Amino acid sequence: MVARVQNEVDVAGMREAGRLAASVLDMIGEHVRVGVTTDRLNTLCHEFIEEIGCTAAPLNYSNSPGVPPFPKAICTSVNHVVCHGIPTARKMLKSGDILNIDITVVKDGYHGDTSKMFCAGKPGVLAQRLICTTQECLYRGIQAIRAGAHLGDIGAAIQQHAEASRFSVVREFCGHGIGKKFHDDPQVLHYGSAGSGPVLLEGQTFTIEPMINAGKRHIKLLPDHWTVVTKDHKLSAQWEHTLLVTSDGAEVLTRRGEENF
Ligand code: MF3
Ligand code: CO
Ligand code: CO
Repeated sequence: MVARVQNEVDVAGMREAGRLAASVLDMIGEHVRVGVTTDRLNTLCHEFIEEIGCTAAPLNYSNSPGVPPFPKAICTSVNHVVCHGIPTARKMLKSGDILNIDITVVKDGYHGDTSKMFCAGKPGVLAQRLICTTQECLYRGIQAIRAGAHLGDIGAAIQQHAEASRFSVVREFCGHGIGKKFHDDPQVLHYGSAGSGPVLLEGQTFTIEPMINAGKRHIKLLPDHWTVVTKDHKLSAQWEHTLLVTSDGAEVLTRRGEENF
C-alpha cells in the first residue's frame, strides 16, 4: 500500500501538529541534566503537551492484542535502549548518558511525531559520533525525498551512510505513514536499495526515524513488552522527523528552530 495523499486541509493540520510536536523537544532540552529522572521528563512534557492544546499519542497506545498499552506520554530511550523506553522514577540520568526523547502529539486529529538525542553531562567520543552520524542518516534520508523518487531511495541513503561509518541499522522498526492515523502505510525502511519500492507522490506524509547501533544491529525486547535494547548492550541512537513530500523535495513538518533548512 502507498501512503495517503493529504489534501490541503489535511496538510494544514499536519503542519500545525508537526510544529507543536517540535516545540515540545525545544521546551524539554534545558531539563535534560544529570540527576533528572525520565519520569520527571515525562511529566514536564505531558503537562506542556496539554498546555498547548494537544494530547500525547503514546499514552495508552496499543497496536497489538496481548501487548499492554504504553503507560506514559513520551518515550525515553537511554544508552543501549533502541526505542520505546518507558519513563520511570527509577531511572536518574548520570553524566555521559545519551537519551532519545520521542514525542507524538495529536492536534485536531492530526499526528506530529519527532524525536531527538540529548546528553546528560558530556558524552563520550563514540557516543558523540553515533549521535551525529544518526542525525546525518536522517538528513540523508530526507534529501532522498521528492515526488517521483522511490521509497527505497530513503533506506538506501541511510544504510549507506550508517555502514560507511561502521555502525549498523536496526531492521525491526521503521518509519511510517502518518496523518489522522499514528502508524499508517507505508513502512519506511531504513535500509534497502535505491530505485526499489513505490514512487513517492506529492502530498504524502510519513516519518523517517533511523535507529543506528554502535555495535551489531540485533535487538531484544524486554519483558515489559515495550523497551527495545541492543542485544550486545552497545549504544543506540535515533532521530525522527515527520515529512511532507513536495514536487521538488520534502517539507520537514517537525523542523525545530535550531535546524536551518
Ligand atoms: N513515537 C514512536 C514512533 O516514532 C512510537 C511510540 S509508540 C509507544 O513511531 F507506544 F511506544 F509510545
Ligand atoms: Co514514528
Ligand atoms: Co516517534
